[in-house]
Amino acid sequence: MQELIRTQVKPDIQVFPNPEALTWAAATEFVQQANQAIQARGQFTIALSGGSTPKSLYALLATQPWRKQIPWNQVHLFWGDERHVLPSDPSSNFRMTQERLLFQVPIPFQNVHRIKAENPNAQKVATEYEQDLKQFFQLGEHQFPRFDLVLLGMGSNGHTASLFPGTDAVHEQSRSVVASWVEKLDTHRITLTPPVINNARKVIFFVTGSEKAATLKAVLEGQYQPDRLPAQIIRPTQGKVMWMVDQAAASSLSTNVSSIL
Ligand code: 6PG
Repeated sequence: MQELIRTQVKPDIQVFPNPEALTWAAATEFVQQANQAIQARGQFTIALSGGSTPKSLYALLATQPWRKQIPWNQVHLFWGDERHVLPSDPSSNFRMTQERLLFQVPIPFQNVHRIKAENPNAQKVATEYEQDLKQFFQLGEHQFPRFDLVLLGMGSNGHTASLFPGTDAVHEQSRSVVASWVEKLDTHRITLTPPVINNARKVIFFVTGSEKAATLKAVLEGQYQPDRLPAQIIRPTQGKVMWMVDQAAASSLSTNVSSIL
C-alpha cells in the first residue's frame, strides 16, 4: 500500500522524573477528561489498558482526592483488550482493574462493560463485545465507537492494546473488535482495532521503564513500520494522542520533549 505521507507533527510527549510523578499526573488528567466529557455529553466513556503500568493509576484513582472528583455514576468503563482467560484468572485485565479500582469506587455495575473472555470460542468473545459497543454507542453499519479516552500501554516489542507485530489485527479496517491469535504467546487476545482507537477524542499512552526506551525511540522517531511497531498505527483522525512517559523510558529520545519536573 502506498505509504501515507506522514505529516511530521510533533507528538505531545510529557516526560516525568519517575513513575510516581507520572501516575499522579495521569490521575489528574483522568479526572479532567472525565469532568470535561460529562459536562459536554453527560457521560465519560473510556477504554482502559491492561498490563502492569496502569495498576498504580487505577489504585490512585480509588483514593482521595481523585475518587470524590469523579462522578462514577456517569463513567462507563470498557477495556481496550483482554486476555482469553476467565475474569478470575490472575492474568485477566478485568481482574486487575477490579482489585485496584472497581471494588473501591461506587461505579454502577451496568457501567462496567467487561470483555466476556470466559467463552472458550475467542471469535465469539470478540463478536459479543463488538455487539455491546454497537448497542451502547448506537452505531449504524460501518460506524466505529468514539471513546472520550483510550488508555494504552506499549510493550517492549512495540505492541499496544493487543495489536501485536505481524498480526492481521494491526491492519483491520472494518471490524471494531477482533480475536487475534498471537503466536508468540500461544493464545488469542481480544482487542479493539485501529479504526476504533483512532476514532477516540483522546488517546493517552503510559510508558515507563528503561526496558521500553529503545522501542519508544523507534516508535516515535524511527521509520513508519506498523507491522513491526504496531503502536505507530495509532494516529487519531479527529482526536489527540499524548505520550505520558517517565525519564527512564524517554532516555533514548532525541527530540526536545517537554519535561515535567
Ligand atoms: C495487555 C495490555 C498491553 C500492555 C502492554 C504493556 O493486555 O497486556 O493491554 O497492551 O499495555 O503489554 O504492558 P506493561 O504495562 O505490563 O509493560
